[in-house]
Amino acid sequence: MTNGVTMLDDANTAEAVGPPLEREVMPRRAWRCLDLFCGAGGAGMGLHRAGFQVAGVDINPQPHYPFTFRQGDALDADLSGFDLVWASPPCQAYTEMQRMHKNSAAHKDLVAPMRAKLQAWGGLWIMENVAGSPLRESLMLCGSMFGLRIAKHRFFEASFELPMLMPPCDHRDLYDPWHGAGRTADKLREAQGTPWIPHQGGASRRRGITGDTFNAIPPAYSEFLGRHAIALLARHNVEVTCPQGREENHE
Ligand SMILES: C[S@@+](CC[C@H](N)C(=O)[O-])C[C@H]1O[C@@H](n2cnc3c(N)ncnc32)[C@H](O)[C@@H]1O
Ligand SMILES: [Zn+2]
Repeated sequence: MTNGVTMLDDANTAEAVGPPLEREVMPRRAWRCLDLFCGAGGAGMGLHRAGFQVAGVDINPQPHYPFTFRQGDALDADLSGFDLVWASPPCQAYTEMQRMHKNSAAHKDLVAPMRAKLQAWGGLWIMENVAGSPLRESLMLCGSMFGLRIAKHRFFEASFELPMLMPPCDHRDLYDPWHGAGRTADKLREAQGTPWIPHQGGASRRRGITGDTFNAIPPAYSEFLGRHAIALLARHNVEVTCPQGREENHE
């Protein structure tokens, strides 16, 4: 029953359909994501935009990481209490350039030990890396799929099924941060959507542009996958909470 004036029919009022929907389907607290190998927060920013409360871990100081930060080894991180763990191990062991210079062996392979840790933990996780890395059954994302002016192909393995129907790459008129004249840090930051990461400093510096900017994944990628993870978490939450919610409605 409604007492006040309403622009809706009774059948459409909050009273008629029960308590507000979010009381039944929304989590009681924010979803929490641990962002391992967080760098200056490219992935973290997208996860935040997807709706996660984000905390990051990196072995180097990361003064520009925009969320809660702990310095440390990702392989020692405590994963308990998190709804999603994101891991971006360094890609130097697998990149083309390193292979060409026969230097891959100088960099530790962190994908395998990280996967072992994530699997032992048993929650939802996503691991990201470059072409040539030992990720399994991976999804590839490209900036052009999100309307960004940068290719930056990254591959993703997860503990759950990832979306497979992605639009094809369209590499016409993209900004190439690796080749050609006129490249600047500003253009790279704009193309990939990481304006808070400064030009100078960072964990590793290459060609005058901070390594953190080069290392960052476009936040659009992690926002897209983070939303997918939240949809899964929310579905699971509905299954768990709905029966109880309905009982409460009858009281
Ligand atoms: C690919 S970059 C991460 C990029 C970041 N996810 C982003 O989107 O901005 C890899 C990061 O791993 C960090 N790193 C390397 N070894 C590590 C370890 N054992 N534990 C934690 N962080 C580590 C590096 O300092 C670097 O910032
Ligand atoms: Zn592409």
